[in-house]
Amino acid sequence: MATKVCVFDAYGTLFDVSAAARLVASRNGGESFKKVWESVATNWRLKQLQYTWLRSLAGAHADFWQVTADSLDWSLEAVGLHRDQKLRQQLLALYRELEAYGEVKPMLNALHEMEMDTAILSNGSPTMLAAAVDAAKISDVITDIISVEDVGVFKPHPSVYELVLKRFDCSPSEVLFVSSNGWDASAASGFGFETVWVNRAQEPHEYLPWKVKHQRSDLQDIPEIVRPPS
Ligand code: LAC
Repeated sequence: MATKVCVFDAYGTLFDVSAAARLVASRNGGESFKKVWESVATNWRLKQLQYTWLRSLAGAHADFWQVTADSLDWSLEAVGLHRDQKLRQQLLALYRELEAYGEVKPMLNALHEMEMDTAILSNGSPTMLAAAVDAAKISDVITDIISVEDVGVFKPHPSVYELVLKRFDCSPSEVLFVSSNGWDASAASGFGFETVWVNRAQEPHEYLPWKVKHQRSDLQDIPEIVRPPS
């Protein structure tokens, strides 16, 4: 079946989640932050994802901005920098306008030229996603932005992937879903999407019951993976 819509995860896939900590370390974060920024960035992301899963399991949803601030606080406390309010504010402000990876814009332009519908499907809250898309200047080549806030539970709950079917009136096999999170690509395969895992960090595959269909190291090939109408 031909691809009807190309759907992208946001954080880690289109937007570089390490960029906020890296930028602060390279500019004005102070000597103590320069030494620990990589561990803060890693813990920030790991805790952020853990909190999404824990909140979903416990039925205690809060939006992704709250989860992002909570996980930053944990990560700063782990390195003894939790009293530095200026550092915290800088990191959160930059997280709202994360850098997009270099290949994002040309790849989306190519899909736009093919008249392919595109969407973001993300844990991000609508205001976070709007700010990131604006900062990356890609709003003209994204057909729609879909947030988990419409269902009030985080990925990989199936009701999140279901949002795409409702929005584009299509079947799962007509969706090409692209994520740099192995667990997200894997769960989306289980839902029935055709999937691409953008394995930027060359990580081992996830030991989950569902196999991703394609694997790439960046987003460049996406227009070639799209299945044209026969
Ligand atoms: C997202 C997270 C999983 O954007 O990266 O949904």
